Amino acid sequence: MIRFAVIGAGRIGQVHARAVASHPQAELALICDPFEDNAKKLAGQYGVPYVLEADEVFASNVDAVIIGSPTPLHVEHILGAVRAGKRVLCEKPVALDLAEAERCRDELGAEADRVMIGFNRRFDPTFADVHARVAAGEIGELQQFTVISRDPAAPPAGYVAGSGGIFRDMTIHDFDMVRHFLGDIVEVSAFGSNSLPEIAEAGDFDQAVVVLRAADGRVGTIVNSRTCVYGYDQRMEAFGSAGALTADNLTSTAVRKASADVTEARGPILDFFLDRYVDAYRLELSAFIDAVLADGSVVPNVHDGVEALKVADAATVSAKEGRPVKL
Ligand SMILES: NC(=O)c1ccc[n+]([C@@H]2O[C@H](COP(=O)([O-])OP(=O)(O)OC[C@H]3O[C@@H](n4cnc5c(N)ncnc54)[C@H](O)[C@@H]3O)[C@@H](O)[C@H]2O)c1
Repeated sequence: MIRFAVIGAGRIGQVHARAVASHPQAELALICDPFEDNAKKLAGQYGVPYVLEADEVFASNVDAVIIGSPTPLHVEHILGAVRAGKRVLCEKPVALDLAEAERCRDELGAEADRVMIGFNRRFDPTFADVHARVAAGEIGELQQFTVISRDPAAPPAGYVAGSGGIFRDMTIHDFDMVRHFLGDIVEVSAFGSNSLPEIAEAGDFDQAVVVLRAADGRVGTIVNSRTCVYGYDQRMEAFGSAGALTADNLTSTAVRKASADVTEARGPILDFFLDRYVDAYRLELSAFIDAVLADGSVVPNVHDGVEALKVADAATVSAKEGRPVKL
């Protein structure tokens, strides 16, 4: 049984706490959040103790730490937990600043392979199936890869201002996914636009398209929006020499409707990441637990986190300066 602490009792901390509490090889042992109401509420749900300082987690007897604190605290929390001998699963991105993420990787040394970064979408059963079937050669040689990722609504402008921008905050998942399929990225052309003046005023885009060239010359495309009226649009297409594999959105049931106005109409797509990726978070945790039990390395790890952040930085420069950026 692996004893877990969750640092950060916010939206994603609650998701991880639930996954840990329901995993047969895990025990939720401690919650940490300096905002006592948040800590108390989440700890109370599972009948576990809470602390207000991350240092108390590092000094405790937990085996593993899940970090769901705000991004600017990730590096401090990763380094503190690893120095205390804990295994770590940290949310994306590693940091808002590439130099800070690289410092984290360098200070960790060999341990950087053993710290998981929460690119949960790699563990989504639908996307993992596409990846496995591409790897098995079902569509011949993979030639193009496309991700469509749209959020149902933009976060508050206050969040946007401190988020590092759409490419570091949101597209980072898609950069990791493109790397997962095509390998390392060497060139990025990104374009952003705004339909929401408050996001523009916060210095960010709410619509984005990114074209990425991989080291072997293949090209990937990412389409993002923060304003998708029909919900959390999460799709991908792998196109190859012998066909294509397409992953569509999920709905809560497979029922379709036909009427005078519509045919093939389904119910709404799953609301947001808490619903759409519930299996992904569970399977991410299982992969992490397997690695802890085997005392081995994990993927995606801090190296993947740093590489995705490099792409995000390049996309930010590309979109702001209107030019392709080579990595
Ligand atoms: N993988 C995903 O699908 C996914 C989804 C959402 C968020 N995230 C990431 O998770 C992180 C948190 O995002 P969120 O949406 O849960 O934010 P949130 O604001 O809902 O939660 C953050 C929590 O951290 C707490 N906190 C603040 N300072 C702290 C400290 N010093 N020590 C410990 N806890 C502290 C806050 O009180 C809050 O409860 C971000 O890095 C974000 O990018 C990942």
